[in-house]
Amino acid sequence: MPAVPDSARTRAQRLRQELHQHGHRYHVLDDPVISDGEYDRLFQELADLEALYPSLVVPESPTQRVGGGPVAGFAEVRHSVPMLSLENAFTNDDVSGFVKRAMERAGGESPIEFSAEPKLDGVAISILYEKGLLKQAATRGDGSVGEDVTHNVRTIPTVPLRIDGRGFPDRLEVRGEICMPRAGFVELNRRAAESGEKSFVNPRNAAAGSLRQLDPRITAKRPLEIFIYGVGEVSRGPLAATHIGVLESLRKLGFRVNPLVEAVNGLEGCLAYFGKVARLREELPYDIDGVVYKVNDLALQGRMGFIARAPRWAVAHKFPAEEQITTVEAIEFQVGRTGAITPVARLAPVFVGGVTVSNATLHNMDELHRKDVRVGDAVIIRRAGDVIPEIAGIIRERRPPGTRVVKLPSRCPVCNSPVVKEEGEAVARCSGGVVCSAQRKEYLRHFASRRAMDIEGLGEKLIEQLVDKEMVSSPADLYALSPTDLAGLDRMGEKSAENLLAAIAASRSTTLPRFLYALGIRDVGEATALALSGHFGDIDGLHGAGEEALQEIPDVGPVVAARVAEFFRNPHNRQVVKNLLAAGITWPRQAAAGESDGPLAGETVVVTGTLTGLSRDEAHDRIRAAGGKVASSVSKNTTILVAGESAGSKLKKARDLNIAILSEEEFLKRSRLRSAEE
Ligand code: IVH
Repeated sequence: MPAVPDSARTRAQRLRQELHQHGHRYHVLDDPVISDGEYDRLFQELADLEALYPSLVVPESPTQRVGGGPVAGFAEVRHSVPMLSLENAFTNDDVSGFVKRAMERAGGESPIEFSAEPKLDGVAISILYEKGLLKQAATRGDGSVGEDVTHNVRTIPTVPLRIDGRGFPDRLEVRGEICMPRAGFVELNRRAAESGEKSFVNPRNAAAGSLRQLDPRITAKRPLEIFIYGVGEVSRGPLAATHIGVLESLRKLGFRVNPLVEAVNGLEGCLAYFGKVARLREELPYDIDGVVYKVNDLALQGRMGFIARAPRWAVAHKFPAEEQITTVEAIEFQVGRTGAITPVARLAPVFVGGVTVSNATLHNMDELHRKDVRVGDAVIIRRAGDVIPEIAGIIRERRPPGTRVVKLPSRCPVCNSPVVKEEGEAVARCSGGVVCSAQRKEYLRHFASRRAMDIEGLGEKLIEQLVDKEMVSSPADLYALSPTDLAGLDRMGEKSAENLLAAIAASRSTTLPRFLYALGIRDVGEATALALSGHFGDIDGLHGAGEEALQEIPDVGPVVAARVAEFFRNPHNRQVVKNLLAAGITWPRQAAAGESDGPLAGETVVVTGTLTGLSRDEAHDRIRAAGGKVASSVSKNTTILVAGESAGSKLKKARDLNIAILSEEEFLKRSRLRSAEE
């Protein structure tokens, strides 16, 4: 081995020190002072030095995060201080009970102080530092004995390989949670799906699975992070007199402590914190499943002691669960507007994320087969925030015998037409078209929807009846309905019939983008409808437009161009459009691209504040129809600001920039159009 010159030894030490500090700034403090490129250069310089003089390599070198090769298995680690769990509180009363007990112990009437923290939804970990160097990391296991996962925990960039600072105890065991941020989890699953591997049901399972790898090179590729929330064994007395003081010391030593930890007072403080964190929950980059309150005074903690496996001085206040297990009772197939056949799981009802869920879409056959959901399976249902509930995964161990792989039906469950699945398409479709009453119903639902023709009161139940009784088969039939027609329908009083007919009549005057969107052309959403309308200005041009001409429109690609051309070539569709126009549908004539005859031609308009006579969408439609451009923020390019009630900062900015400001009334006047029939 070559002798190591002093200069190389000093340089290596210096590089380790710098890389350690920059790594800490980058990963823990989120406050880097050098670029990634500079970091990489320093790292490479150290790696080169170590390659040249292998005796310079020390375990805490930043180059040694992925240390040796795979381990043979996980050794047992006995925790010198047991790793406890927490009592749960689900209601404010539960929390109140906890706070009262703590106050009684404190022997006073005055509210006591708690450390309030997010309850991170990851995997508990214990990490032991000896003389400042990371020695061992272990999972919780049964609380007394866990597994040695040092080789994997070392790969996590937010875990320091050595402690930075002075006066730390010889043996310091920190405890915390290893989490996988949601974005990293989604990306990991995307890659897994791409390469046909099994996906993880949630970030916690992904974090646990990543820690249970024998090969640290795999773990190193997983986006894991740590938050430290306490200590285990500390060789030299406590680090501080309060829990928050301990966390503060740990933060100073270079550990990552959650920034949302704060001291709160009494029950009121706890509940206010709970509310605050519940509101923040969706925006946080990682999953949490509640908050934890801990008595802050360590002496009081000591007097309160433990019950069974949990401390009396802490409690986990849980959010309503976002995941529940239930069983699949049936898998049925729904037919959508364009004939798309969607498998839907009918579930034994479960309360999850604040609502009762009894159905979950499986999107398409590929998804169903990838998740391998079968009738009788126990499944994990997930509903986070306001997102549609989904089947996160199945619990294979609980699969009853005799289940069968679900097959795509060969005929439409509604109209019995053959089901077709084109090569390379994930979606199977009923080939029945307008013959299929399910497609007709979905089509009408779309036609009447708020962002299409906006027919208030024409909901799913009514459409069911209208189609089943064969009163309506095509959208134009809606405009021929009479009070007598409606009188015979379920739950249809005279007044509601009147309202519905008024809403149908009112929908006759619309805008071209809405009308095009309402036609339900495959792959034509609102944005495309707007682009088509802006380009052609009226519907006549669309009738003869070829695919090539259509592709000249910004954002219209070959697929959409083909769909639009095909739609307008089809005689049935042409008849539908003709019938609708004959039924009296009109829209304000608008300027086609390049023309500039609208009253707002050349203007860039921002709408702010609350309008009384029209919705924000309607105002925007009106601006576009009048030839103007809609913008969302005020800039020097803005030419008009429409200011509704309680307009705020945008109004001020417009004034500062000397931009024309219109009231709602003035705007209505300015944007008045000739209508299509004129
Ligand atoms: S303190 C003796 N603080 O929750 C108290 N735990 O059910 C030990 N957890 O296994 C835990 N966030 O993995 C504590 N801020 C937090 C936490 C937290 C998540 C987990 C931890 C523990 C489980 C207890």
